[in-house]
Amino acid sequence: MILPIYLYGQPALRKETEEVEKGEMDIKQLISDMQETLTQAEGCGLAAPQIGLSKRLFIVDGSELGEDYPECADFKQVFINPEILEESSETVSYSEGCLSLPGISENVVRPKTITIRYQDEDFQWHEETLTDFKARIVQHEYDHLEGHVFTDRISPIRKQFVKGKLSNIAKGKTVSRYKYKR
Ligand code: NI
Repeated sequence: MILPIYLYGQPALRKETEEVEKGEMDIKQLISDMQETLTQAEGCGLAAPQIGLSKRLFIVDGSELGEDYPECADFKQVFINPEILEESSETVSYSEGCLSLPGISENVVRPKTITIRYQDEDFQWHEETLTDFKARIVQHEYDHLEGHVFTDRISPIRKQFVKGKLSNIAKGKTVSRYKYKR
């Protein structure tokens, strides 16, 4: 089932998220719905707050980026109750966008490499070190679990520049091609 994606201005994007407990919901169904939602919206990641669910869970799918970043082509993963354990001091700047902020893309500086601990859809723990674009996607989605969106991290000058666009999204003046809620 395709779920509506919550747009900037929706309180769900700023709410505190709770750990997912095994058995509390039909996690496989939820993941399948989120995957379907992400695929039709042609995004590379979707976090639970973006569908109005204040839980610590996100999915990534790098296949949309496969052409420019071959290492992402088969990067399809579920992260439940993730925790970033380490961040490199080396940073990189990439242009980011977000399904909750249609029409906006801005450069964001983030650590190049991260180590993350998370559970998969069978609630097995994993620890992984990710770099470059994989680390980028994961950090962006992780931010959603912390109530942040990527424009929180841009320079004051760029914030001023996107202010109007953000308020248009919040006021419902933006149209996106996928199903959304505002
Ligand atoms: Ni996003």
